[in-house]
Amino acid sequence: MRASTHPTTDCATRDVSFLENVPIFAELEEPELKKIEKLGLRKKYKKGNIVVLEKEMGAALFVIISGKVKIVRTDEDGREVILSIFGPGEFFGEMSLLDGLARSASVVALAKAELFMIHRRDFLKLLQEHPQVAISLLGELTTRLRKADTQIKSLSLKDASGRVANVILMLADDIGVFRKGKVEIDELPLQQDMANMAGTSRETVSRMIHQFIREGHLQLDGNKLTINDYEEFRKQYL
Ligand code: CMP
Repeated sequence: MRASTHPTTDCATRDVSFLENVPIFAELEEPELKKIEKLGLRKKYKKGNIVVLEKEMGAALFVIISGKVKIVRTDEDGREVILSIFGPGEFFGEMSLLDGLARSASVVALAKAELFMIHRRDFLKLLQEHPQVAISLLGELTTRLRKADTQIKSLSLKDASGRVANVILMLADDIGVFRKGKVEIDELPLQQDMANMAGTSRETVSRMIHQFIREGHLQLDGNKLTINDYEEFRKQYL
């Protein structure tokens, strides 16, 4: 398997507004954003396209303009675990650029996606020229490390209900829509994917979701999951 090399490139609609919504570029003025826009390339991917392949050498950083991607690691039998899901304004591919090692995970488009790609040399130059971008990047990497710490604690110390609750809360943070204390997750991943994330079986995920529904924490309507009170659910299970 190789990373998809045939995305379509679209140069007709060049503007910088998509970069204004990227938190790591938030402090930059328009002239700087224009320079960044010229450095990179916009690419379109279809659902299921592999953008980055685990263990390949990294040559670029990607910023999501639209769509969603999943960050996954796969074992020798092809089983995968989702580490995170990213949407518009978020970036990935920085790890191998910063430490010079191979890609730490694969990245796959979960839906039609448009990405902005910056080559390694240009990205490193950008960090040197704009320390505020480097500081924002460190802030985001710290947030990701905190999430990974929570995940390690959950997998090592929590029982099945805590581990499944943690996965639901992670999905809420990644793809949920927050409204007045409630969170709606429109497209809940497959229960097998959630089981791999929680280190448990698909049957246990199903059992726990139904337990949380009975307890009044969740509602499930087809593929749409609602957490009735995010803070309360978090307090009870994390
Ligand atoms: P890189 O290793 O270059 O390619 C895969 C990318 O996936 C990696 O950079 C990060 O951007 C992202 N990634 C890897 N592990 C995690 C994680 N635990 N949480 C969020 N993103 C990750």
